Amino acid sequence: MKSKVLVTGANGQLGKTIRELSTNFAKSIDFVFVERSELDITNSKSLALLFKTNHFNYCINCAAYTNVDLAESEIAAAIDINANAVKNLAENCKTYNTTLIHISTDYVFDGQSTRPYNEDDPTQPINAYGTSKLLGEDYIRKHLDRHFIIRTSWLYSTFNKNFVKTIFNKLKNDKKLTIITSQKGTPTSCVDLSNFIMFLIINRVSNFGIYHFSAEGETTWHGLALHIAQLLGKTSNVSAIKDYPSKAKRPLYSVLNTKKAEQLIKKPLNNWKASVDEVIKSLSTD
Ligand SMILES: NC(=O)c1ccc[n+]([C@@H]2O[C@H](COP(=O)([O-])OP(=O)(O)OC[C@H]3O[C@@H](n4cnc5c(N)ncnc54)[C@H](OP(=O)(O)O)[C@@H]3O)[C@@H](O)[C@H]2O)c1
Repeated sequence: MKSKVLVTGANGQLGKTIRELSTNFAKSIDFVFVERSELDITNSKSLALLFKTNHFNYCINCAAYTNVDLAESEIAAAIDINANAVKNLAENCKTYNTTLIHISTDYVFDGQSTRPYNEDDPTQPINAYGTSKLLGEDYIRKHLDRHFIIRTSWLYSTFNKNFVKTIFNKLKNDKKLTIITSQKGTPTSCVDLSNFIMFLIINRVSNFGIYHFSAEGETTWHGLALHIAQLLGKTSNVSAIKDYPSKAKRPLYSVLNTKKAEQLIKKPLNNWKASVDEVIKSLSTD
């Protein structure tokens, strides 16, 4: 039997990527994509009505407040979307026996670790965005057993605004760039993350809980920009700086240990460079 899957926040980069890939899974999944204009997840009445009138087997929550710097001055809005609305989602999922696949972030950690973070390592967000996302995780754990919380990092895609696209466009216009070396993490392609989410659904995985998912390997923002520059033959356009001031603090080290996800899918994850190459190839042919 086909699974009926609700995708919230369908106009975001992850939502758009899932929509693009959805035809590959059409045999086993009926998707219902809703953008913010069709479903504001903070509107509890609309949420309840949508769940009541559909029988979703899964809800993939791609809706989120994602502006990390702005969240410092808009903490209430971030908490409303990333935590209070997520609690509501979890409660509706519980009522209608829907499995919630929720996307969380490496920013729930403080970045002081010297080795990749495990799923059960202590959390300690250092900015408002991370705090709001952690609260959302806590609500899900408290209200719903049938959940997957997927913590990911440094998402990019061919859609919307993201670091990889910005660097690609700037280098294409021969701009000179100075990029920070102070933060270490792992870039994650929305395509790789979407395929992991589809794996959970198609295989009806019942080992619920938290999963860390990124590409394999680690780099800095400067390392990522330099890799893109290498692909475009523009390495001399990219120089390094230790840090730039920003409104929100960011974890200095946010590499995620992805062994649990790898054991589930029984294969190694793509190396970050290989996945970046794919997106740069697509952007180059647009
Ligand atoms: N981007 C990253 O580097 C990164 C890293 C780690 C984890 N994550 C997590 O990954 C998930 C997907 O991120 P993304 O990069 O795809 O984010 P994104 O491109 O910013 O998309 C988020 C989407 O959520 C929508 N949205 C915001 N408030 C909403 C509301 N109240 N009701 C319904 N929709 C709402 C936004 O609508 P509008 O288009 O109208 O604004 C947007 O389309 C998020 O949970 C994020 O926290 C992201």
